[in-house]
Amino acid sequence: DKGNHRHFMLKEIYEQPIVVAQTLKSYVRRLEEQVSLPIPDFDLGTIRRVSIVACGTSFYAGMVAKYWFEQFARVPVDLDVASEFRYRAPVMEEGGLALFISQSGETADTLAALRHARSEGQKIAVVVNVPTSTMAREADLLLPTHAGPEIGVASTKAFTCQLAVLAAFAANLARAKGRLDAKAEKEVVRHLSEAPAAINGALAYDESIEAMASVIAGARDVLYLGRGPDYPLALEGALKLKEISYIHAEGYAAGEMKHGPIALIDENVPVIVIAPSGPLFDKTVSNMQEVQARGGKVVLISDYDGIQAAGENCMATITMPKVHPLIAPIVYAIPVQLLAYHVAVAKGTDVDQPRNLAKSVTVE
Ligand code: M6R
Repeated sequence: DKGNHRHFMLKEIYEQPIVVAQTLKSYVRRLEEQVSLPIPDFDLGTIRRVSIVACGTSFYAGMVAKYWFEQFARVPVDLDVASEFRYRAPVMEEGGLALFISQSGETADTLAALRHARSEGQKIAVVVNVPTSTMAREADLLLPTHAGPEIGVASTKAFTCQLAVLAAFAANLARAKGRLDAKAEKEVVRHLSEAPAAINGALAYDESIEAMASVIAGARDVLYLGRGPDYPLALEGALKLKEISYIHAEGYAAGEMKHGPIALIDENVPVIVIAPSGPLFDKTVSNMQEVQARGGKVVLISDYDGIQAAGENCMATITMPKVHPLIAPIVYAIPVQLLAYHVAVAKGTDVDQPRNLAKSVTVE
């Protein structure tokens, strides 16, 4: 049932404040100001390396997690798309945790990678949305997302719930490694707890995003730029746009532009820049200015301060609530989803059932 919404995708985008809050309940104890795991006695302290494996949007959630795990827990992370993992003969040592991320829990490549990792002696953790799925059954450490059924082929609420779980998991891992004292843990809990309201704040810009959709809908190619933990969002933005609007889109690390892709820039290629305030803001903005100097038309997604500082020569800006950098990937997922959605609607494509795609890819 789509409720009042025209498409399942839009309904699912709007469910995010609630389902992210619901998911976080299993991973943070707000009163005690502590992060926690659904399986509290699972020993994270002995984990020496994490291999993250997933496909599509779930892979991009894993890519954000790599930044978090390494930054907070100082645990080295390998990251692979599932279809590549087994075939590159990955080195898996004792004390390794293999972490699989999947909305459906049935994706054939991810499942095959899970079984391979198990045969190599890895502990298996699974972030999964369907609790009765094969992956959920095969996990040593089951980390459920509580997004509820996701019907739209384009993953939206599953993604932000995955990020919420992964951020909390990063904090749990950091604590187990002695790298998160009680004060820092309190802070993490506070930031994570702010995510649902911030998502709500982001949804409030739906109409202004809709208003610019017709411009993007006329483009043949679109680029997305981001840095650090927001770089995967650029990839996710491009994937969303491709899959539902059929516009060619690519995501790049902002700093990579001058190593090639900037040659693509002219006034016909909109460039969506994801740049929340924070330690990487100035660097991203200078990459954005390189694009503008070559006639590129920029849509800047930032908070009020960021837009005040750098929004002047942009074709358009999208204002997000000001959030802590930890939750920025969760909050900035919303404009990226809404933009793809409205562009697809403007183009008249089948938003919930895009051509050539299936919700669950159960063949390798
Ligand atoms: O069910 P999974 O999370 O394992 O699915 C992985 C991908 O097939 C999925 O994320 C796909 O990329 C979506 N269509 C993205 O919107």
